Amino acid sequence: MYHSQIKGLGKYVPENVVTNHDLEKIMETSNDWIVERTGIQERRHIEPGDDNSTAVMGCKAAKQALERAKVDKDDVDLIVFATLSPDYYFPGCGVQVQEMLDIDTCPALDVRNQCSGFIYGLSVADQFIKTGMYKTVLLIGSENHSGGLDMTTRGRNVSVIFGDGAGAAVLQRTEDHDHAVLSTHLHSQGKFAKELSLVSPSTEHWVDDIIEEAPQENPDYYPYMNGQLVFKNAVVRFSEVIMEGLQTNQLSPKDVDLFIAHQANLRIAQFIQKKFNWSDDQVYNNIQKYGNTTAASIPIALTEAWEKGKVKSGDHVVLSAFGSGFTWGSAIMKW
Ligand SMILES: CC(C)(COP(=O)(O)OP(=O)(O)OC[C@H]1O[C@@H](n2cnc3c(N)ncnc32)[C@H](O)[C@@H]1OP(=O)(O)O)[C@@H](O)C(=O)NCCC(=O)NCCS
Repeated sequence: MYHSQIKGLGKYVPENVVTNHDLEKIMETSNDWIVERTGIQERRHIEPGDDNSTAVMGCKAAKQALERAKVDKDDVDLIVFATLSPDYYFPGCGVQVQEMLDIDTCPALDVRNQCSGFIYGLSVADQFIKTGMYKTVLLIGSENHSGGLDMTTRGRNVSVIFGDGAGAAVLQRTEDHDHAVLSTHLHSQGKFAKELSLVSPSTEHWVDDIIEEAPQENPDYYPYMNGQLVFKNAVVRFSEVIMEGLQTNQLSPKDVDLFIAHQANLRIAQFIQKKFNWSDDQVYNNIQKYGNTTAASIPIALTEAWEKGKVKSGDHVVLSAFGSGFTWGSAIMKW
């Protein structure tokens, strides 16, 4: 019986640090408001003119993950790329990374599940490995949010939260069930699709409209978020899907060695921590430094936790996410 195992992790964040105090200079906000409501102190933004993009950052994280996994790029059987901020409308970032890594041919798949993108991608990778179809999958989550945020007071409830960055994981086939992904659990509820969304530009609001409507003037061209509804649903769904994963594997919350939530908001992560009675040692958060990096947040946090020695062989690691769609999911792993 085949299982998948994470063999290597990588991350990349742009050098440009944008603090809450920097934001105070360009919109009506305050360090106190942002820290109190979200826990965020700073985030990274691509600087105009530097060579970064969603695909480029994803490729940098992927190279580090491949190197650490000691896997040659030509052994990659499948690339899965999760993002809500692709470089192009089409094709997806997966094929761009394939070209950047100089992989001649292999399937490349883009996943569009926003904050749950990495969990959805992990589940896709895991299924392909479990069926025996592929041996090695390169999974990437990457976002360039800063290029599309409303950095004025009008957009402050969204723009202060999000940051840029990328994370990656190399998954490989193993027959060792004791060091593998144990299960993944996915959900979505489309009735809330517009509650956290970017509806334009799109095939409904095409290029002529953009030119005529002066996009900077029109809030439809920036992400919309019903923050309180997102918060209320997130705390319920996070709890449900973590329990679903634990019960599937006959585990209890006290068996968890490390929990990493999608870094949406420190208050949400703290609520979950309290609910499951986890100590600070059992939970890893880094939203304080990077903000919410959507599909990249879990692989960045997991990579950082691993770099700090917080993930050890045999540990039960729980990942969970909630976000736009609404979509949510969890993954239970034994490291
Ligand atoms: C976004 C969020 C922090 C906003 O907190 P909130 O308590 O719900 O705040 P509200 O939107 O009700 O706004 C409260 C007030 O703060 C103001 N405000 C909003 N953003 C602000 C900012 N960046 N700086 C200062 N004031 C701000 C609002 O205008 C409002 O002012 P008013 O009372 O005068 O009308 C919170 O809703 C949240 O964390 N939601 C979940 C978001 C999330 O996790 N998203 C990612 C999902 S993957």
